[in-house]
Amino acid sequence: MDYSQKMLRDDALKGKTIVITGGGSGLGKAMTSYFMELGAEVAITSRNLEKLENTAKELEAATGGVCLPLQCDVREYEQVEAMLAATVEKFGKVDILLNNAAGNFISPTERLSANAFDTIIDIVLKGSKNCTLAFGKHWIDNKEQNKTILNIVTTYAWTGSAYVVPSATAKAGVLAMTRSLAVEWAKYGIRSNAIAPGPFPTKGAWDRLLPGDLKEKFDLAKKVPLKRVGDHQELANLAAYLVSDFAAYVNGEVITIDGGEWLKGAGQFNLLEAVPEEMWDMLESMIRSKKNNS
Ligand code: COA
Repeated sequence: MDYSQKMLRDDALKGKTIVITGGGSGLGKAMTSYFMELGAEVAITSRNLEKLENTAKELEAATGGVCLPLQCDVREYEQVEAMLAATVEKFGKVDILLNNAAGNFISPTERLSANAFDTIIDIVLKGSKNCTLAFGKHWIDNKEQNKTILNIVTTYAWTGSAYVVPSATAKAGVLAMTRSLAVEWAKYGIRSNAIAPGPFPTKGAWDRLLPGDLKEKFDLAKKVPLKRVGDHQELANLAAYLVSDFAAYVNGEVITIDGGEWLKGAGQFNLLEAVPEEMWDMLESMIRSKKNNS
């Protein structure tokens, strides 16, 4: 048994209908694929219908499940309402919303235009808000229970991060929304949780974020105490658990899955990791001799 294996039993999401925004590629696709293997019916959304259709065909062939591709720019509330209506028309209901769609520009903030900043805020914060509000209203109006929202955030939602400021700002908002609605909408039978992934390389996002030889210069595995990046199945396992009924008592939580990455950057003395054993011997004898002399 290891971390790249599938965790839940085969029928864990049987009877569930799940919408995954940004489900056509990258981590969204990895989660979609696993949800289908676990018996869920899924709708995947993004702006690029052709990409979604290819992914849907590929995943249906691989898993034997059902995948509905729906074009939707999450920045537009009317498009989100239409996407919700199309999902309900196809499957009769929807149980789970996974706000996964995101955008990010890696850049000194002062180089960004006002429109560039807005673009990221609109996709990440407004997009998650649009979907959450539309789905929440639908469930509450129809008195449907046992629904769940899962938001993909990031560890810099609470630490902040230089050079990805629009994304950090937006993700912080999504995290606040997660925790706020976990309390406010619990009475309607809606759970809200978040996952904060560390480095899980995907072709699309990582080639854009770290183009050229930047990937070699900034080997992200080196920043992780466990000395490796994440495996997509590890994230899919966690997401599947959180949206399943096995997690029925988990509400308002953000689960970090980053091999200890963000804490390594936080602890005041963590840089002592670089001190070799012989130097520790020397330091210890210096400290002890001071104590004995005082
Ligand atoms: N750095 C800084 N500014 C940038 C930029 C970059 N790399 N790329 C585009 N911009 C600016 C544009 O110049 C424009 O601003 P302007 O009108 O003032 O000139 C603004 O950002 C919007 O650009 P546009 O290309 O119209 O945005 P879009 O809405 O078509 O696409 C994304 C934005 C983020 C969706 C797109 O870049 C994308 O598909 N990214 C891949 C997904 C992704 O980033 N995933 C990462 C997940 S962490």
